[in-house]
Amino acid sequence: MTEQKPVTESTAKKVPTLPDAQTVTEVKHYTDRLFSFKCTRPASLRFRSGEFVMIGLMGDVNPKTGKQKPLLRAYSIASPSWDEEMEFYSIKVQDGPLTSKLQHIQPGDEVILRPKPVGTLVHDALIPGKRIWFFATGTGFAPFASLLREPQTYQDYDEVIITHTCREAGELTYGRDLIEALKDDELLNEVIGEGFWKKIKYYPTTTREESAKMGRITDLIRSGEAYADLDVEPLNPESDRAMICGNMAFNLELKDMLEEAGLEEGANSKPAQYVVEKAFLD
Ligand code: A2P
Repeated sequence: MTEQKPVTESTAKKVPTLPDAQTVTEVKHYTDRLFSFKCTRPASLRFRSGEFVMIGLMGDVNPKTGKQKPLLRAYSIASPSWDEEMEFYSIKVQDGPLTSKLQHIQPGDEVILRPKPVGTLVHDALIPGKRIWFFATGTGFAPFASLLREPQTYQDYDEVIITHTCREAGELTYGRDLIEALKDDELLNEVIGEGFWKKIKYYPTTTREESAKMGRITDLIRSGEAYADLDVEPLNPESDRAMICGNMAFNLELKDMLEEAGLEEGANSKPAQYVVEKAFLD
């Protein structure tokens, strides 16, 4: 796994040491490859659950110019649109320009958060349906961590199926804990009604370490095993809507499978039956 090349910004204008600075409030490490953090939310930031923003730190001082440039990378917002804080779920790449540093942040530190949210994994990009599938690999779970805490998800759909494929069992912890905590989510229990979480079907799988369910979700769907395990009908363009977020090969393979099943790709400007976003990592 490599870190996507970060976007650098010109510092032609004089900028404060940390432009768009937000304060880190919490950091949790899950494995030697994964961590999550929370930070303060810019007062003016409005976003739709499922969108992403640019996050980063100041890079090293350039010995030639003596200047520093922000080192930014796209991060899906893992917290829901109503939350007071911002949450992010990240990989750690030991030689990655950004995450080699970002993994060491502590509460009280500052991160750069550009308040310009964008993205296609939003409810607005889908037409009404009965069932929604969230398909994730690795840190591609992040936008679904937001959408699973978004009341509209349960207002719009009778059933919410979240699949998460990771290499190792420890990489499922963030998602599993989040889904478990939903049962006690005050806002969702109040707005949607107690027992709302019964709409959720969670299907975690691993590919390189033993767990309750092994295999890539793509193979498990193709063989019909996932449908049998979940006790659901196969994908159908009349009732099913889907969002995909994972590594590139996974995104492409699943996109083909959804197209074969008769679903059409949607966008903010033209809502349809499924949407796809890469997790910004390959
Ligand atoms: P595998 O271990 O068989 O490659 P990564 O950490 O490399 O991003 O992978 C995350 C998970 O996505 C792994 O479990 C990996 O399985 C799985 N994966 C990779 N490519 C595909 C694909 N084309 N379809 C389904 N799952 C995939």
